[in-house]
Amino acid sequence: MLKPKVEKILNEQIQKEGYSSFLYLAMASWAEGQGMAGVAQWLYAQAEEEKMHMLKFVDYINERNGRAIIPAIDKAPEDWKDIFVLFDEVLEHEKYISESINDILALAIKENDFATQNWIQWFVTEQIEEESSAQNVIDKLNLIGKHNLYVFDRDIMNLRVEE
Ligand code: FEO
Repeated sequence: MLKPKVEKILNEQIQKEGYSSFLYLAMASWAEGQGMAGVAQWLYAQAEEEKMHMLKFVDYINERNGRAIIPAIDKAPEDWKDIFVLFDEVLEHEKYISESINDILALAIKENDFATQNWIQWFVTEQIEEESSAQNVIDKLNLIGKHNLYVFDRDIMNLRVEE
């Protein structure tokens, strides 16, 4: 049986994982509109993963004789300045989710809920991957961006129209 405080924080996480899914769906749709099919594919897959995370919380709360409440999901943004800004936001969002997973673990420890301490470990590990995955994309983007700037810088003199 879940203690009320633990049940409450787990229910709050349903909302956060649901929002994550919708956020990445919104980003995927934006990327598709920008003609970036590969980026969209990455984000659609991420949205699916978040939905799976959300369902894990629903399942766990109900399994422990709590009651999973399906929340309203806040509207995600529609536009991003560019792909760099978008992936910075992905990483920041994942850091925020990692913090909330840590808060769940901290509460489970405080409440002597050993089952939840054990169960939430999967998410602790998952968040390492999620942050790392977003960071990898940012690292690649930075390399590509710098490379392009390098090429641009090298070739800019060729853009001169000589008399
Ligand atoms: Fe479900 Fe990306 O955290």
